[in-house]
Amino acid sequence: MANQDDQFKKVVSHAKEYGYVFQSSEIYDGLSAVYDYAQNGVELKKNIREYWWKAMVQMNENIVGLDAAIFMHPTVWKASGHVDAFSDPLIDNKDSKKRYRADVLIEDYVGKLDTKIEKEVAKAAKRFGESFNKEEFLATNDRVVGYKEKGDAILKRMGQSLEKEDLADVKLLIEELEIGCPLSGSKNWTDVKQFNLMFGTKLGASADTAMDLYLRPETAQGIFVNFSNVQKTGRMKIPFGIAQTGKAFRNEIVARQFIFRMREFEQMEMQFFVRPGTQKEWYEQWKETRLKWHLSLGMGKDNYRFHDHDKLAHYADAAADIEFKFPFGFKELEGIHSRTDFDLKAHEEHSGKKLQYFDPEINEHYVPYVVETSIGLDRMFLAVFSNSLQEEELENGSTRTVLKLPSVLAPTKAAILPLVKKDGLPEVARKIVEDLKWDFNVAYDEKDAVGRRYRRQDAAGTPFCITVDHDTLNDDSVTIRYRDTMEQKRVKISDLKSIIKEDVDIRNWLMKM
Ligand code: GAP
Repeated sequence: MANQDDQFKKVVSHAKEYGYVFQSSEIYDGLSAVYDYAQNGVELKKNIREYWWKAMVQMNENIVGLDAAIFMHPTVWKASGHVDAFSDPLIDNKDSKKRYRADVLIEDYVGKLDTKIEKEVAKAAKRFGESFNKEEFLATNDRVVGYKEKGDAILKRMGQSLEKEDLADVKLLIEELEIGCPLSGSKNWTDVKQFNLMFGTKLGASADTAMDLYLRPETAQGIFVNFSNVQKTGRMKIPFGIAQTGKAFRNEIVARQFIFRMREFEQMEMQFFVRPGTQKEWYEQWKETRLKWHLSLGMGKDNYRFHDHDKLAHYADAAADIEFKFPFGFKELEGIHSRTDFDLKAHEEHSGKKLQYFDPEINEHYVPYVVETSIGLDRMFLAVFSNSLQEEELENGSTRTVLKLPSVLAPTKAAILPLVKKDGLPEVARKIVEDLKWDFNVAYDEKDAVGRRYRRQDAAGTPFCITVDHDTLNDDSVTIRYRDTMEQKRVKISDLKSIIKEDVDIRNWLMKM
């Protein structure tokens, strides 16, 4: 655990030191669970958004984009169920006076069982060496099977109790598992209560006429209320999807773990409208497609797993998370939900407008069913950033800190470095910058010895360093250094563009899907 904590602290401090993420309003001591993206962070975030948008919208003829407003008519949230049901079960510790999400306390308990399983696997892998079969071990080792069964039973009971609104049983479960306050260890708990997560605000200048609004807690509803507009103006035929990225707001109670759980965050969501009865097939297909998208970034197959929900949201008939191995363990990165016709039907009832589709293939009108894919951009940022931050022992005994971002997502693709600040080398380096900047984000750096500049770019995540030296003046060649391998090659200046493009081109990455 100490190791995980240390690793996570390194992630947070590195994100600040290298201009990725700052605490919001830091000079006023910050605002809890609100963050700003700095010069490098904003580029990484933009590149992740683009990677998602290309895969979801540009590459799919039957998926189109949308950018709905954050403010929406307040009845939207009544219809969607958020006014009545978008709440978290809270519990207070009477001694430490700290407030927690009851479900998170229980999930963290189960997370510790998962950690025990991982330790058993690691021990066995060491003991059996090459002959170790992980799948078989997981299925047959008594201790591991016991942990797994215990965790599953706890989650099942919690899911059922929350579903039935049996908050007394959720408290009983916490007591039976002897879960203590993570800060003080005290087991002196209040009852569990529900707390609505939406932020309220007002629209209008005068106090009498101002309308009470909510800041949207998900982008999805902007898509539902525009379903008919998009379908008709785009002449879309079912099955089709509408995708959007944008800010969402939740008054999260457990606001910790950096940008994992924020009060203002960005979602990338896609609602896929299908013929009723076909939703299960599409749900399975989108689960597979979304996992492939993640794997295309090459961050390790073992870092992902599916978690099928026992506790379903008020709108879903099936739901799964794609979980990622963050520095604090496996946690939800993306949700795939089969939302039935709940939302469109609810908006029909509350607005009095028809939200139906005429299906010419079966000659019928119906309210489509929806399969949704929903990923937090900030959470994806954390997954990429934390997975990429590595410390390596070098052959000479020193260590280097390197941010091995997938190069397609890296904020700066190449740094151009004159070996010395004289003899005409800066001028040649500047010329290379002027040429490459039409195609890529590049940086110029002439300060400090070249070795230090390499390390600086490694830590900032720049995949290529290009060094201009005295030979360049005679042979139009430069040294290109690869961040991940530290390999260096002599190449022609005229070849730089194609070498970089080959490596960072979205096409080459998405083709791996
Ligand atoms: N429209 C469905 C929906 O909003 P969700 O599971 O509540 O579903 C989807 O959220 C995704 O949004 C999550 O998988 C997570 O990546 C991200 N997300 C949710 N709450 C978040 C928060 N407070 N901070 C950062 N990301 C969050």
